[in-house]
Amino acid sequence: MARVTVLATAVVLAFLTAALVKEVAAKKWTVGDNKFWNPNINYTIWAQGKHFYLDDWLYFVYERNQYNVIEVNETNYISCNSNNPIANWSRGAGRDLVHLNETRHYYLISGNGGGCYGGMKLAVLVKKPPPPPAAAPSKIKNSASRTFTVSGLALQFVIPVAVFAAIGTMQLW
Ligand SMILES: *[C@@H]1O[C@H](CO)[C@@H](O)[C@H](O)[C@H]1NC(C)=O
Ligand SMILES: *[C@@H]1O[C@H](CO)[C@@H](O)[C@H](O)[C@H]1NC(C)=O
Ligand SMILES: *[C@@H]1O[C@H](CO)[C@@H](O)[C@H](O)[C@H]1NC(C)=O
Ligand SMILES: *[C@@H]1O[C@H](CO)[C@@H](O)[C@H](O)[C@H]1NC(C)=O
Repeated sequence: MARVTVLATAVVLAFLTAALVKEVAAKKWTVGDNKFWNPNINYTIWAQGKHFYLDDWLYFVYERNQYNVIEVNETNYISCNSNNPIANWSRGAGRDLVHLNETRHYYLISGNGGGCYGGMKLAVLVKKPPPPPAAAPSKIKNSASRTFTVSGLALQFVIPVAVFAAIGTMQLW
């Protein structure tokens, strides 16, 4: 009876922890950090050294009456031309989320009021998430999927927690 309880506790904890860690894994980047989406910021420098992975988000915060977030191709990114947009990510509130759901380059500019000429242009390369950490079980070593990374991380949390729960439950019995 006690053993069943321990097992059930461990399974439930495994699911809860996996869900929790998965949520944390996709990153939401606030573009420009505390300077947000504004002119006179070099977003090439902002993006330097950052790794953007599939299913991350870019969060643009800006003055909604002056700027916007328009996705263009590389040519139009270089020339600040927003007349042939690939996508208009502006929703009107000056708070826009761009879901990076494809592994490719994204070119985002502000097409309003010369924002792009003032430096409001961001290019990011979205990559596949890195392979799971070495500590993960060996049977998943062929996969680069973030789901498996999560499992690897989850185990690191779940095992100590499950042991702790098991000790607690056994004392009850
Ligand atoms: C932004 O920084 C990059 C990298 O240092 C540089 O190549 C580029 O010229 C800068 N852009 C502007 C508008 O200063
Ligand atoms: C971007 O789109 C323009 C048309 O707006 C086109 O002339 C140009 O070749 C495209 N550039 C790339 C890199 O696809
Ligand atoms: C982008 O979409 C928003 C919300 O639908 C709209 O208000 C805005 O005019 C659009 N901007 C462009 C440049 O199409
Ligand atoms: C990514 O999102 C865009 C815009 O929401 C959508 O048009 C596109 O089909 C999505 N791509 C994939 C691979 O799901």
